[in-house]
Amino acid sequence: MSVSPRCLYVVVCGAGPAGEVGRLVELAHRRGWTVQLVATAAAATHFLDVPALQQQTGRPVRTTYRPAGDPATLPDADAVIVAPATYNTINKWAGGIADTYPLSVLAELTGLGLPIAVLPFVNEALAANRIFTRSVEDLRAAGITVLLGPGAFEPHPPRTGGDKIATFPWNLALDTVG
Ligand SMILES: Cc1cc2nc3c(=O)[nH]c(=O)nc-3n(C[C@H](O)[C@H](O)[C@H](O)COP(=O)(O)O)c2cc1C
Repeated sequence: MSVSPRCLYVVVCGAGPAGEVGRLVELAHRRGWTVQLVATAAAATHFLDVPALQQQTGRPVRTTYRPAGDPATLPDADAVIVAPATYNTINKWAGGIADTYPLSVLAELTGLGLPIAVLPFVNEALAANRIFTRSVEDLRAAGITVLLGPGAFEPHPPRTGGDKIATFPWNLALDTVG
């Protein structure tokens, strides 16, 4: 009897490490995951090589709802990684806003209680904003693992984010979802 590979949804937001998300895909494939990428408009517009990622994953990169009448559906998710997660997406998600396809996906998958790991990429100024700390608290209270703090992602001084991209801890997110 064959066993279907587990499906990992990766929600990619518009911050520097998004351009390197192919590394996460490669690491996830090595661990036996099928990867379904969901990208925000900011990620797709400014950071991603969508054709290359579609070739790498063997799946469409989804940024919007499928067209009405299109029968192609996504596989069910077994786990979710949000990486890099922006200030914008973390706050909107925690606030219950679902006005884009990626935010709607996150709202639904949170409600299903799936394992969800979030790797933020924010500078110290954004991380210190009370709105952000409250959003992180709210996501954690919902059972989501936000990988922020010592031993996980630590915010950088403004305008130094480029130095942190090479060491962005993709593996930590994979370890978290199993
Ligand atoms: C080159 C560039 C770098 C950015 N870096 C970050 C970042 O490190 N963290 C962050 O939260 N937003 C960053 N932003 C801003 C986000 O892309 C912007 O807030 C956007 O609205 C996020 O949308 P999303 O959350 O739907 O991806 C950056 C934008 C650009 C163009």
